[in-house]
Amino acid sequence: MLEIKDLNRSYGNKLVLKNINCKLTNGVYGLLGPNGAGKSTLMNIITTNLKADSGSILWNGCEIENLGNSFREILGYMPQGQGLYNGFTGYMFLNYIAVLKSVPKADIKSEIERVTKSVNLMDSINKKIGTYSGGMKQRILIASAIIGNPKLIIFDEPTAGLDPKERIRVKNLLGSLAKDKIIIIATHIVPDIENMAKNILVLKNGVLLEETSSDKLIQKYAPNGNLEDVYMSIFSNGEDL
Ligand SMILES: Nc1ncnc2c1ncn2[C@@H]1O[C@H](COP(=O)(O)OP(=O)(O)O)[C@@H](O)[C@H]1O
Ligand SMILES: [Mg+2]
Repeated sequence: MLEIKDLNRSYGNKLVLKNINCKLTNGVYGLLGPNGAGKSTLMNIITTNLKADSGSILWNGCEIENLGNSFREILGYMPQGQGLYNGFTGYMFLNYIAVLKSVPKADIKSEIERVTKSVNLMDSINKKIGTYSGGMKQRILIASAIIGNPKLIIFDEPTAGLDPKERIRVKNLLGSLAKDKIIIIATHIVPDIENMAKNILVLKNGVLLEETSSDKLIQKYAPNGNLEDVYMSIFSNGEDL
């Protein structure tokens, strides 16, 4: 279980995360909010790439800061807009990540095969990443996030820059991941998480406004509508969109 307690973070004098509290158990969560809501900041804190000003994050009751490397080993992370090593082949990149994540040496080859198959990149795995399309780059990043079968996987804007066809493919891929883990998908694109996330976390201006099912959100904000209508109802005042 991942528990976030009284978390605050500012940049300069701008508070970008305001007293975030939530408890996540196994399943898929959608972290939904427009650009600037604070999604990436929150994901960077959960992945220990950034420090909070105050508050804590607990993994099965232990502060993640105290877990050190053992937390990194249960974590899979696909950062937003990550630069890739264009000179590496897909295989070299995944091998590098597998080593970083302490996958036992004897298992690395089969693990790379497994994740390569699951993102359907078998034909291109020995080609340089620089030759990949946008969709293939996103898929190799997804493969790197699921290597070593982590118990907590975070995808930050996994469909950024993809065309609609590629977007659906990536969504199907994320939906096919086993549900015996916590999966968080941060996005401002409603269809990316619609009908997939068991719970939606709505982040507005650094405030966690809602943590509930899609159905409950629809009941509350758009009784005759869909999740897109909920989004419009919550974020419809100009600058938030
Ligand atoms: N490195 C930074 N320095 C200053 N302000 C930042 C920095 N990163 C993010 N911010 C600000 O924090 C707020 C939240 O940003 P971010 O977490 O990237 O939101 P999201 O991922 O939801 O688009 C925004 O107002 C953004 O401008
Ligand atoms: Mg972001």
